[in-house]
Amino acid sequence: MRSFAGRDILSLKEFERNEFEHLFEIADRVEPIARERRNVDMLAHKTLVTAFYQPSTRTRLAHEAAMHRLGGHVTGFSDAKMTRAGDFYQESIKDTMHMLEFYGDVIVMRHFDQGAPHEAAKWASIPIINGGDGWGEHPTQILTDLYTITKEMGSVDGKSILAVGDHRMRTMHSLGYSLSQFDAEMVILAPEEMSPLPEFLAELDEKGTNYRIVDHIDEAIETTDVIYMEPVVQPDYTKARQEKQEVYARTDAKYQVTTEVMKKAKGSSIILHSLPRRDELLPEVDDSRHARYWQEAYNGVVMRMALLSSVLGVWE
Ligand code: CP
Repeated sequence: MRSFAGRDILSLKEFERNEFEHLFEIADRVEPIARERRNVDMLAHKTLVTAFYQPSTRTRLAHEAAMHRLGGHVTGFSDAKMTRAGDFYQESIKDTMHMLEFYGDVIVMRHFDQGAPHEAAKWASIPIINGGDGWGEHPTQILTDLYTITKEMGSVDGKSILAVGDHRMRTMHSLGYSLSQFDAEMVILAPEEMSPLPEFLAELDEKGTNYRIVDHIDEAIETTDVIYMEPVVQPDYTKARQEKQEVYARTDAKYQVTTEVMKKAKGSSIILHSLPRRDELLPEVDDSRHARYWQEAYNGVVMRMALLSSVLGVWE
């Protein structure tokens, strides 16, 4: 297995099964710290730098919370407009990274341009973690989600995962790449204009991901083990920011999870949603035995604890 110490976490495309398993094992080891709401001194001499060029609640704060749980320090920005990268100067990623690398020991970056964290990794001498890049990938979210499936269902193997929503979305890409490493089925459901790109499906074919495409949630709901959701009403992820809309489009029933739809689901099936949500997942489902998105959000902190401690070399 490749070492995690000092490593950039940019994509799950080349992640191997034993690397997923290693992170799940580390997550299990650090989880009691989060569960008992303790802060330890594991990363007492390390600093995380957050570089967020796009809004975030979970990804940035879960990394920050993870760093605090492990006794580390945090600095950075959550609004690039208030930095030289977002004002008159439009400071380049190269110049920005040459600064940030002096301010900490690991950088988590979210950017509206696909590939921006890869560009950052060329210039920073410290590890870069991709916190979401345009429509590209969202590796730490999918590591969280596969860990959640493992904890809730014993294994990713043998599961049929219905991925419903916008398949241009970065999470869907990281999910598709990851499932090539497991004996699992990915069932793709998206509005036509949000279908996976042919180039992405070609990559899945090449990697050996077992997938099929359906047109309506009713075609898969009875056999699926995991309903993995993304909104179909969502912003353009290639933009730095989109403001609140006066009128939002409504999600078609074909892509919506409601208590009525869940009556047809397997009793053991679980619903994951990386959040935030709109009307594709109604709050009426929150109290059902299927909802696991709050557990998923908690696991988001645990997985970031595992990742940060790994790239900072604790377990070598
Ligand atoms: N799941 C996720 O990426 O959420 P945020 O946009 O709030 O970080």
